[in-house]
Amino acid sequence: HAAPLLDRFGRVHTDLRVSLTDRCNLRCTYCMPAEGLDWLPKPDLLTDDELLRLVRIATSRLGIRSLRLTGGEPLLRRGLPDLVARFAALPDAPELSLTTNGIGLARQAEPLHAAGLGRVNVSLDTLRRDRFREITRRDRLADVLDGLAAARAAGLDPVKVNAVPVRGVNDDEITDLAVWAVESGYRLRFIESMPLDAQGAWDRARMVTADEILHELGRVFTLHPVPRADAGRDANAPAEQWRIEGTDAVVGVIASVTRPFCGGCDRVRLTADGQLRNCLFASEESDLRALLRGGADDAEVEAAWRASVAGKGPGHAINSADFRQPERPMSAIGG
Ligand code: GTP
Ligand code: 5AD
Ligand code: SF4
Repeated sequence: HAAPLLDRFGRVHTDLRVSLTDRCNLRCTYCMPAEGLDWLPKPDLLTDDELLRLVRIATSRLGIRSLRLTGGEPLLRRGLPDLVARFAALPDAPELSLTTNGIGLARQAEPLHAAGLGRVNVSLDTLRRDRFREITRRDRLADVLDGLAAARAAGLDPVKVNAVPVRGVNDDEITDLAVWAVESGYRLRFIESMPLDAQGAWDRARMVTADEILHELGRVFTLHPVPRADAGRDANAPAEQWRIEGTDAVVGVIASVTRPFCGGCDRVRLTADGQLRNCLFASEESDLRALLRGGADDAEVEAAWRASVAGKGPGHAINSADFRQPERPMSAIGG
């Protein structure tokens, strides 16, 4: 019934990614400095009631059908299962998913599933304890592995694993990660690293490209492409997928840099402080929090939302000479 959320390129937006906090309990070297960042002050964050109102507007008036909760680390948000239950109880409830580093998932997987969470994506770049500590600056590999097991046991399905290979850091583990994921029943995706770190230290030469990842996997596995048409609800997702011969496992690559998928983008993003971004790399935001707190009615919020999407550009410019990183780092946008 809601009119589609269209941009001027004809892309229909049905997927909303909401950052619940900009804080994180890890300090991945490719994401933020050891000392962390200047976190948003509490009064700037959307409250649960404000979030619920925006999501209700998104689902009932804008045609949003899937809601991904991100961070920072979304499991750090107080009362997350209650918030999820409130999203799930909306009349046009969206599909609910979560992207997490897995710390604390061992405890929260079951309550989250009971509250209505459908599936979960867990970040994990290495299976080696020492290396995990070097990459994340915290000695918590075991917590992540426990979290993954708990997610599967709770019935979250699928359980995806996100790995960002970095040259000279963990690029020698690509096939180990894949073998492990096949054996464990997790759906692994490798991600090309994007220039979204807080330090502004992204270096194209250290990014491992999709071609390199596939070449590496090809040393151990025979891969068969999964056509988009067969990918079901993943059809619009950024991952290209391959079935691994001799198994029923699928492995994916998210090649944002070398094979941009902006032409099929169906996403909008809301930061933890209530700013709407029409692209991960947007240079401007729409202040929905100001509208909410200024007493705007639903129609005004809807209009601001549609105007933001109408102003969306064709895609990111990572590969152009005059590329500038957005002001907010990934951890404050929601990935
Ligand atoms: P699924 O719905 O399970 O496929 O989720 P997802 O892969 O879209 O989400 P996730 O939070 O697991 O993100 C995985 C990687 O994809 C991260 O590096 C994100 O930054 C990246 N990503 C997600 N959405 C977009 C997007 O619209 N554009 C780009 N360039 N990257 C994205
Ligand atoms: N480029 C690509 N992916 C990134 N992630 C974090 N930083 C980057 C980056 N600069 C990944 C995380 C997580 C997902 C949400 O994004 O590892 O799995
Ligand atoms: Fe969409 Fe922007 Fe990501 Fe491209 S970079 S897929 S336009 S969010």
